[in-house]
Parts: sequence; structure tokens; C-alpha cells
Amino acid sequence: MNLPFAESYKIKMVETIHKSTRKEREQWIKEAHYNLFSLKSDQVFIDLLTDSGTGAMSDKQWSELMLGDESYAGASSYFKMKNAIQDILGFEYFLPTHQGRAAENVLFSVLVKEGNLIPGNSHFDTTKSHIEFRKAFAVDCTIDEAFDTTISHPFKGNVDPVKLEKVLKENHDKIPFIIITVTCNSSGGQPVSIENLKMIRKLADKYGKIVVFDSARFAENAYFIKLREKGYQDKSIREIVREMFSCADVMTMSAKKDAIVNMGGFIGMRSKELFEQASMFNILFEGYVTYGGMSGRDMNALAQGLYDGTEFDYLDTRVKQVEYLGNRLMEFGIPVQQPIGGHAVFVDAKRFLPNLPKEEFQAQTLAIELYLEAGIRGVEIGALLADRDPITRENRYPALELLRLAIPRRVYTNNHMDVVAIALKNIYDRRESITRGLKIVKEAAILRHFTVSLDLA
Ligand code: F0G
Repeated sequence: MNLPFAESYKIKMVETIHKSTRKEREQWIKEAHYNLFSLKSDQVFIDLLTDSGTGAMSDKQWSELMLGDESYAGASSYFKMKNAIQDILGFEYFLPTHQGRAAENVLFSVLVKEGNLIPGNSHFDTTKSHIEFRKAFAVDCTIDEAFDTTISHPFKGNVDPVKLEKVLKENHDKIPFIIITVTCNSSGGQPVSIENLKMIRKLADKYGKIVVFDSARFAENAYFIKLREKGYQDKSIREIVREMFSCADVMTMSAKKDAIVNMGGFIGMRSKELFEQASMFNILFEGYVTYGGMSGRDMNALAQGLYDGTEFDYLDTRVKQVEYLGNRLMEFGIPVQQPIGGHAVFVDAKRFLPNLPKEEFQAQTLAIELYLEAGIRGVEIGALLADRDPITRENRYPALELLRLAIPRRVYTNNHMDVVAIALKNIYDRRESITRGLKIVKEAAILRHFTVSLDLA
């Protein structure tokens, strides 16, 4: 008999989580104005809101915390982080920032001007908002297959070369750079192939453009390349990572994902000139260039996390758990983005709740139902998150209305995944009876989903 799959780690410390009654949850979600961000964490049993900053650090990372150097300037922790970035990712220059969007803020302060167009593959919401905040535009050049959850394409994060070249040709003077998100969060944690990255590099060179990687889940991207792309089966994750980043001039990183830390980020660069320009904004917004909003101990844990996060056995355990949940949902006939992504399962709320109009926020309604059913917190990736069009102020309805179930790294067991699967199945069985969605009562002008107040429609 073949031995079954098992985790590549064992547990040294645990944290208690709390169950609640449906009655309690009905009260709490009402008080939270049907916004899952407004719940207290102890009102949640299984928290799949995000895989960002929610991972369990390893014993090696915790050890590194004790070795942190908290000197204001020139701390040894800065050099530990610098060496890890150079070693694993191959960038000579870097600036620490407190998280990923801070890296975007600093970099875009140098590169993005009013009226610019920034092509890429389904920009993440903070990336898009930092572009739109500067009165520039994000242009989505993702392949069409990504927007049909029933198609199983191995690299749904890929850029369509025809779409990209059209933008580059028609708006040549307005484009400061191309940004590629690996893996592509917004299309479902979907990877980008090396072949596609090389194509993007070639087009960027043809039109004289910089390539930026939004790298939050770069290691999961490399894992998928190893499994799915011809010629990469025998390469190590770190070899693939180096090959991926050889196509980029700059990287921004939310280290809260694949570097498995609770807080932290950075910008990696090859150009000394860009480094010097960005340093000014880093000092202004984040802190001196050798800490940029991070404490020394966190820089140490981040450096160690880059090594932990690029181990094949860890990635295999991690991605297989996400796949396990996805497969269970598919067994029940629940519509999910296929193939299953690296960090999350994305439930297709349009197909799950076809009786609900899009104006009543299908994915958010499903997220609330899941919370009521079992105290599980997912997140809406749909019309709420899409915000309003910055010019017309009309609601934007994206091609996909998704409920994202993001799995924190090294945190939950597959028993938790079973609870999530059964809870969703129970809702799926009574989906016909869900005919009332939600309406907005109060919203912010940008990134409204974090603070929006909703009520039953
Ligand atoms: N880029 C991507 C692809 C992301 O997924 C995120 C964050 C960021 C940038 C911004 O990084 O949060 O450190 O400022 N994603 C989280 C999520 C919030 O839940 O997907 P940050």
C-alpha cells in the first residue's frame, strides 16, 4: 500500500479558537453591518479572511527574533535580509517597507505620473488603488481563460501577448512599466508560466519598458511551474525562482505571504538610480533605508522565512492543503475557480447563487451565509472590492464574483478544511432559498470593502 500524504512539519505551539452559536453569529454580523472585516477575531471559528500575515512561523524564525538587531541604522538584521534577498531573488538593491502596499507606495511615487497606463495581469486591489490614487489607470491584460471558472488552464495568471502589445503600441509614451503579479491573486491565486514571463520580458525590451513583479506569492508560483511547466520538473524551487526573477527589473513584496511573517515587505531593484530615487520616499513614508518600517527582529524572521518558504516539502504541504479543500468542494458539485489556486479556493458566487442579482453582491452574500452557517470567515473578491469607476463613479461589476477562502500557512489541519467543505455544502443544498442579498449603506471612496456598512437588500 502507498503511504498517504502527510504534513512536512509537526506542531510545537497551539492557539485556542472558539465555536459559537448561530444565534450569536446573527447578532454579531448585524452589529458588524454585514462586513466581515468588522468582526472581532474571537467571533470567528475558522479564519480564512486572508493568508496575509496569518501564517505560523517556524522554530527557526522564532529563534531569529531573539537575534534581531534594533539599531536605527546599519543593523545586522538589515544585512541578513539583504543577503537573503540577493541569494534567493537575485536583487542587488533593496528597501525594506512595513508591508506590500507600502512598497507600492514608495515605488509608484517615483514611477507613476497622472495619466499613465500600467498594464499587467489582474492587478491586486492595493496595487490598482495606488495607481488610481495617482490618477493613472491599470490595464488588465490577463488571458481570457482566467475569467471562466470552468476552464482548467495550467497558468491562468498569464498575460495575453496580443492584449499587452496592443497597449504598449497604442500608449507607448504613457506607460512607465508593466506589472506582473505572481501568483495572480485576483484571478484566483493562479500562476504565470516561465514561458509567459519570458514573452513579457521580450515585449518590454522591444518597447523599452521596465518590468515589475508583484511578488507576494512568488514561491507558490515557482511550485506550480515545477509541477506544470515542461522542462522544470527536475529543477529546484530556488532555481525556478531565480529564473522567474531574471525577467524582472524591480519587485515589490508583501512578505506576509510567501516569506511567512506577520508583517513586512520590501522593494528589490537592479538599478542604483532607481534605488536612490526610491530611498527618498522610503525615508519620507517608511523610515530610514536600513529598516523602512520594520523592526530588526522582523527583518531577521523575514530573511529566514524566504528560506523556509522556498523549501519544496513545505510548499508541497501548503498547496496540497488548499487543493484538498478545493477537491472536497468539487466533490459536492460546488462551483470553484479551476484549477485550484496556490493560496486559496475561490468559490464562483455567480454560479453558486444565480437567483441573486449582481447588484445585491452575490459573493458578499455567500460570505455572510458561510459565517452564519459555521463561524467561517472568507472574503469577497467581487463587486464590493472592485470599487466604483474613478471617473463615472458607477459600481464596477467584474467578470468574476468570487468568495475567497484563503488558507493561512501552517495553521489549520485538514479537519478544519472538512468543516469548511461541509458548511458550504449545507448552504449549497439550500441555495435556492437564498433570494435576498445586500445593499450598501455607507462606503469610502477608495478600497471601500474594508470599511463598508451593508444591510439586507
Ligand atoms: N500584492 C498582492 C498580490 C497581494 O495579495 C497583496 C495583499 C498586496 C500586494 C499588498 O500587500 O497587504 O502587505 O500591503 N494581499 C492580502 C490578501 C491583503 O488578503 O490577499 P500588503
